[in-house]
Amino acid sequence: MDVTSAASKTALMVCAYRARASKWKQPLFVDPWADAIAGEEGHAIAKALDPRFPPMELWLALRVAYLDRLVSTAVDRLDIRQVVILGAGYDTRAARLPRAGVQFFEVDHPATQAAKRDKLATLAGYPVDSAIYASCNFEREDPIERLIASGFSTREPALVVWEGVVPYLTEAAVRATATRLATALDPRSLVAFDFVGKRFATGQSLSEQDRETRGFVGELGEPIQYGTDDPLPLLSECGFRWVRVLDFNELALEMVGDYQRDRLFRFQHIALAAPTTPTAQWP
Ligand SMILES: C[S@@+](CC[C@H](N)C(=O)[O-])C[C@H]1O[C@@H](n2cnc3c(N)ncnc32)[C@H](O)[C@@H]1O
Repeated sequence: MDVTSAASKTALMVCAYRARASKWKQPLFVDPWADAIAGEEGHAIAKALDPRFPPMELWLALRVAYLDRLVSTAVDRLDIRQVVILGAGYDTRAARLPRAGVQFFEVDHPATQAAKRDKLATLAGYPVDSAIYASCNFEREDPIERLIASGFSTREPALVVWEGVVPYLTEAAVRATATRLATALDPRSLVAFDFVGKRFATGQSLSEQDRETRGFVGELGEPIQYGTDDPLPLLSECGFRWVRVLDFNELALEMVGDYQRDRLFRFQHIALAAPTTPTAQWP
């Protein structure tokens, strides 16, 4: 995404999936604002993606639920007082998971952030002050600088959630951002992000559904640019000294109780990375 471009459509799309997953009989989470934020446009985009990638709703629900759990662990068990949502889109964690003394920071591309703030202002009851908003284009700006200017402290640990963003960036932007996170954050911090495989990112997946999904988001104006089958080399070069990778099939097994190979989760993972070995156990 370029700084002059419009607000993210993929952010609206995943918001619609959050709204749908919130209505499950046994939801993994409930986002009471997602439906109104997604609106007709978000739901229409999600509906158009459905036939191309049928497991999208489940995949998104697992991603949101796992990262919610990470936020709860950070603030309730590990006493982390700063939660940073990078590339926040229409994320509502600041409103859904507030805790006394915990500051949420939302960092996003200026176009998307402006659109989000306009939408939030029309939502009755949404606590707009639950986050501090900082704009940043990861392709050319330093998120740490933007965060510090907004009151963030690099002398206190933080949980950084970078959800649904890395695939849309160039490798240069992923490297620059990861390097700043690894070297500037308090060493007790943790960064979590999801990523897609290299074949998926380059349009060389053997699965037609994967290729159609990639084409679809590209047509929304946000081409998939970066993928990797192993983020450890890049993360170690950027300065991280502890990395773990989770598989969405493992999350599905744990959270919804089954494994289905044809869900095509094999190219998508979540990475956890820290500047030093954490003393506490991350879920
Ligand atoms: C698929 S949305 C994910 C939104 C949100 N994290 C979620 O999961 O609901 C992609 C997000 O990445 C952000 N993004 C894409 N390119 C960016 C860039 N160069 N700089 C900053 N943010 C960017 C978009 O603004 C958008 O909010």
